[in-house]
Amino acid sequence: MDDIDRISNKEKQYIQEVLAGQFSSSSTYQMVTRLEKAFAKAFHSKHAVAMVNGTATLHMALEAAGVQPGDEVICPPLTMSSTSLAVLQTNAVPVFADVDKDTFLITAEAIQKVLTEKTKAIITVSLYGLSPQMQEIIALAKQHGLTVIEDNAQCYGAYQNGKIVGTLGHMASYSFQSSKHLTSGEGGMVITDNDELANRLRRYSGLGYAGISGTKGRITKDDIQSPEYERHVILGWNYRMSDLCAAVALGQLERMEELVTIRRRAAKYWQEALGDCTWLHPQLVKEGNSHSYWTYAVALDIEKVGWHEFREKWKALGGDGIYAAWKLAYQEPMFREKAFLNREKLGIYDRYDYNQTVCPNAEFLQPRLLQFKTNYYKEDEIKRQAEILRQTMAYFS
Ligand SMILES: Cc1ncc(COP(=O)(O)O)c(C=O)c1O
Repeated sequence: MDDIDRISNKEKQYIQEVLAGQFSSSSTYQMVTRLEKAFAKAFHSKHAVAMVNGTATLHMALEAAGVQPGDEVICPPLTMSSTSLAVLQTNAVPVFADVDKDTFLITAEAIQKVLTEKTKAIITVSLYGLSPQMQEIIALAKQHGLTVIEDNAQCYGAYQNGKIVGTLGHMASYSFQSSKHLTSGEGGMVITDNDELANRLRRYSGLGYAGISGTKGRITKDDIQSPEYERHVILGWNYRMSDLCAAVALGQLERMEELVTIRRRAAKYWQEALGDCTWLHPQLVKEGNSHSYWTYAVALDIEKVGWHEFREKWKALGGDGIYAAWKLAYQEPMFREKAFLNREKLGIYDRYDYNQTVCPNAEFLQPRLLQFKTNYYKEDEIKRQAEILRQTMAYFS
């Protein structure tokens, strides 16, 4: 494929359209509505509700699922922290289930082990662009009456057993933060096929306004100009996306295929460079899955080569930045010390001690993971980087 620009004329054109509307009340949220319709279509879903970011989306999905203070929500610890932060923001308890050593993903088996009578929902994470095996997780959730939320901030345009990832759970959450496949700097989206969940997502993220619903994001002047008009029917947050943000996200969405393809192209280069290396183990893609490669993640055999040793040599040879995996959520000081803005005094977190070993596989993997970048918009760049990977491997072999 050809080299591309991350931001094209399309995004610029849509921004111009928003600005031309002067933010008048008649034009406001029109671009958001356009984005939502296009997103729902692209992800084979009935509803899409746009929000300010992919953390707010998770928070609202949990509220829409009816998660109550003190309820438990199962999620993996090996992920960007927002997955479990959203649970805390709902005044609920994140319960961590372990990941598979080869796929790096949460499994039904691990979820089963930490289920309690308080479990209300599961957040699965399509880590690095690859979905967990959802069939088993959905079956387990069904058996226990749990809501499944897919955190797909890192996963655009992947499939599992012929279905687009995002349509496997009850709701799926997306992020348009600057590192993601599609970006508008910040931004997020939740999709669902369920009308009632869509209504709640819209109301709770739109200040609890009476006049909005899953299919209606805007309140008209006629609605609000009467002195008797009662606006707020329920508690809500103001997590609405702006039209400017939607303009960029819409342009990106229309280019989703090429924006995902450049990531897959990079992954192919990394994979070829790795060859049959016995001490660098890429994330395993199980049959029936396509990967969207937000990054190309590899577990390094640190008994052979140290993590910093590898990165230093790689950088010395001209390699680009390699990211480590985030600390496991529960290993962050916030969890270890339960610095939850006094929610820790509610007593609901007492049975969990985050200073113990909680998820052994995730604890094994985290210090070993190397995340190679995949956002190379020019083929020459990734070609050069793949060559540097070959040289780095040769040095240590
Ligand atoms: C897995 C995961 N979940 C949630 C988020 C939160 O998204 P945002 O940064 O848009 O709040 C991110 C990324 O930032 C993420 O990678």
